Amino acid sequence: MATNRTFTMIKPEAVAAGHAGKIIDMITSNGFRVIALKYTRLSAQEAGTFYEVHKERPFYGELVDYMASGPIFAAILEKDNAVEDFRKLIGATDPAQAEEGTIRKRFAESKAKNACHGSDSNENAEIEGNFFFSGRERF
Ligand code: CMP
Repeated sequence: MATNRTFTMIKPEAVAAGHAGKIIDMITSNGFRVIALKYTRLSAQEAGTFYEVHKERPFYGELVDYMASGPIFAAILEKDNAVEDFRKLIGATDPAQAEEGTIRKRFAESKAKNACHGSDSNENAEIEGNFFFSGRERF
C-alpha cells in the first residue's frame, strides 16, 4: 500500500562531514515535504532500542556505537508513495551498489556509514517517527 509519510535520519558521519544541508536540499528538491525535523544525538541505549530489529545481526554492536557517535538530523517526510520513493532516492544500503544521483552514492562512506536512513515499511515509518517526535512537533 502506498503511504504518504516516511522517516529519515541523516547519520553521524554525514553530519560531521557537513553534508546535512545538501542532503536536506536533495530531499526537498525531490518533492518531499518536511513535517518534523530535529537535530539531536542518540544515547547508545536509544540507538540500541531504535535498531532492536537488527539485534541478532553481527553488525548490531557496530551500528549502535556508530549511531550514538555524534549528532544526527531526524525527520518525518511527506510525499505520495513516501516509503518507496524515499528508498529510491537514498539508494542501496551499500553505496558501491547505489545508483548515480542517489543520496548514498553521493555521500555515503560505506555500507555501515551510509549517510542516511529511510524506513523500510509503512509500519516502521510510523514507529520510527513516533520514537523521535511528539504530536506538537509535527507541522
Ligand atoms: P539503515 O538503512 O539505517 O538500516 C540498518 C543499518 O545497518 C543500515 O542502514 C546500515 O547502516 C547498517 N548495516 C546494514 N548492513 C550492514 C553491514 N553488513 N555491516 C555494517 N552495517 C550494516
